[in-house]
Amino acid sequence: MITLTINGTAHEVDVEPDTPLLWVIRDAVGLTGTKYGCGIAQCGACTVHVNGEAVRSCSLPVSDAAGKQITTIEGLAADGKLHKVQQAWIDQDVPQCGYCQSGMIMAVTALLKQKPKPTDADIDAAITNICRCGTYQQIRAAVHAAANA
Ligand code: FES
Ligand code: FES
Repeated sequence: MITLTINGTAHEVDVEPDTPLLWVIRDAVGLTGTKYGCGIAQCGACTVHVNGEAVRSCSLPVSDAAGKQITTIEGLAADGKLHKVQQAWIDQDVPQCGYCQSGMIMAVTALLKQKPKPTDADIDAAITNICRCGTYQQIRAAVHAAANA
């Protein structure tokens, strides 16, 4: 048994220690907002926070996340209020199909914690997530909107 703390709640999961965190979050815990894209740490669809840092959960063994604070897209809103990045995403009409967007939002919230006012270059360097719908311009606008909110 491995104990994971996800969005502030402890979960006991009966999985192999080398199971990717992504599958534990989705299949064992049932939080399906975190998506599977490539499975090889390239696309960012599976991004969550582990102790506040953006991590690609498809490539992290669940045993490495035990005892740490894991946050998924479902845990971002607080006290019934969307996170300012989520609100900026709505205001700027960012999503197209939406598949990549929870990973994008998790990557951006982690970036804004480190750099509250990122430049375009900072955004390009930090947000390497892939969007097949090509929403990159809207994402950039939303990041600036959230930074100024
Ligand atoms: S599914 Fe994890 S980076 Fe693509
Ligand atoms: S919104 Fe469709 S993949 Fe990004």
